[in-house]
Formats: sequence, structure tokens, C-alpha cells
Amino acid sequence: MSVQQAPRHFLDINQFSNSTLRSILNKAIEYKKAGRNFNKPLLDHTLVLIFEKSSTRTRVSFEVGMRQLGGDVVVLGPRDSQMGRGESIGDTARVLSRFSDVIMIRTDSHKKLELLAENSSVPVINGLTDDSHPCQIMADIMTFEEHRGSIEGKTIAWVGDGNNVATSWLHAAVKFNFNFKIATPAELKLPESQIECAISEGCNVTITSIAKEAVKGADCVVADTWVSMGADNDRSKKIKLLEPFQVNEDLMALANSDALFMHCLPAHRGEEVTSSVIDGKQSVVWDEAENRLHAQKGILSYCLNII
Ligand code: CP
Ligand code: NVA
Repeated sequence: MSVQQAPRHFLDINQFSNSTLRSILNKAIEYKKAGRNFNKPLLDHTLVLIFEKSSTRTRVSFEVGMRQLGGDVVVLGPRDSQMGRGESIGDTARVLSRFSDVIMIRTDSHKKLELLAENSSVPVINGLTDDSHPCQIMADIMTFEEHRGSIEGKTIAWVGDGNNVATSWLHAAVKFNFNFKIATPAELKLPESQIECAISEGCNVTITSIAKEAVKGADCVVADTWVSMGADNDRSKKIKLLEPFQVNEDLMALANSDALFMHCLPAHRGEEVTSSVIDGKQSVVWDEAENRLHAQKGILSYCLNII
């Protein structure tokens, strides 16, 4: 009788060792260098992409990446499956596992992602939940290191909402050993449990409600939308709280002179960042977007046991 191995899910950066994360990034770098000059390691494999929220980068980079690896893709939007009419996550997981080799989901509640993974016999990838966005931060680490070398010991400053992307940066700070300074309004802080957990694992994290304090000495300043998908109810309240957290030239001038600017996109020029910064010399946002493709090919390779 063959013993079935547990599927290699990719749910959150804090669930992996540094060496596994490094092997995923090394594979991503290898794919990027190779361009189209590699065999098709995922021939006859199918990726199902489930989107309960909008996407440009995640949708296209996973689809293109899987095809470049030789595989096939099925995309399910919010109205394309019975999930939209109430079929349970568990049943969906069990059925999709019979047809496909790997599933990516972008959804609201993190619990749904976990339920999908618990009930799936094939790997599940987190393509963003209300709580985290690990694929993005893998691409961001890759981007930082392409421009500035090892991220270990460097200082990354987060300015804005304490949201899903910030949480994945915090997870990465623990695993990749960099300093993380977070400036958010007191009302929009990262969950205390996440901060406590990072500190208990030795993370050098600074929490402040003053943007200037966070960017001082930073090697990279990171912004994100002030209003995440699904958080529209509080839009006007959030925007008011976040106005002092705009990343503009004056704020960037307080960071290290060679500091990078990052944003996962989509961006709102004139809100969380000015055009002069996001379209300026320090910005690496287009590299971040491109590296989603390469990083996720690394993640697919991990999930499907080819690294
Ligand atoms: N950064 C990111 O995940 O972009 P999309 O919402 O377009 O997928
Ligand atoms: N924090 C943003 C990220 C979008 C990629 C959101 O959740 O909408």
C-alpha cells in the first residue's frame, strides 16, 4: 500500500523554514534567468485559480506562470462555481482535488483558505485573504535582493494601514531576519497576536503611529492602498486616519538616501503615495509586479515537489 504524502500547501510565510523559503526564491531566480529556456516540468498538471475578489497581477501571473511550466489552468471567478451559490468549501475542495493538481484561492476570510487546505488532497496556495498575502511578499523579497543584495539585517518600513500585506511582511521579517518598522494609525494597527508572535520569535519590530519615525534609517519604504478590498464600509473614516501616512518626497527624504520604494499595486496616486515617488527613481514597483511571475513559479515548483 502506498503512503500518501500530505500536500505541500503554501498558506503563510510563517509556516516555513528559512531554508524552504530560500529554496523557493532560488528556483524563482533560476526561472527568471532561464527565460523560456527550460523543460516543461509541470506538463499534464492543472492549476485551478479561485477568485472571490478582483485581481490583475495574481490572476495573470499565475496563469502565465503555470502555462510557462507546461501546465494548464482553470479560472473560477465569483459567479463561475457553485461556491457562489453556497456549496461548502469542504465539498469544493474534495471535488477540485479529484480534477486538479494544485489550487490557488483569493478570498476574504482566512478561515476559508484553511478549510480549503484541510479538505484538499492537493496543495492549496494563498492568493490573498483578509489576513495575509504571502505570494506578494515572496516577490518583494526577491525584488529587494535584486536591487540591494541580502535583505538580512536591513530595515524595511511599512507606512499606512496595518493590513494583510503588512502581516506577510511581518512574517517575512522573522524568517528572513530583517528589521521591520511599522507606522500605522493606532486604530489600524496590525493584530496584537501577530506582533507578539513575531517578537517571541526574535523579530526586531518597531511599532509607531508616526510615519517619520518608521522611515528613519529605512532601506525600503513600503505603502499599500488605504482601503483594501472588502473594507469599503469604513472608507471615509480610514482615509481620514491615513492622510498623515502618505508616502511623498518629504517622507522618502528621511529614509536612507538609496532607499527603495515598494507597493504591491494597485496604487492610488495622490492617496497613499504621490506620483513623484511611485513614478520616481527609487520606485521598484514594476519589478515587484514582474517578480510575482517568477516567485510563483518557484512556489508552484515547491507545491508540486519539483524542488
Ligand atoms: N498585488 C496584487 O496582488 O495585485 P492584484 O490584486 O492585481 O492581483
Ligand atoms: N491590501 C490590498 C492588497 C491588494 C493586492 C487588498 O487587500 O485589497
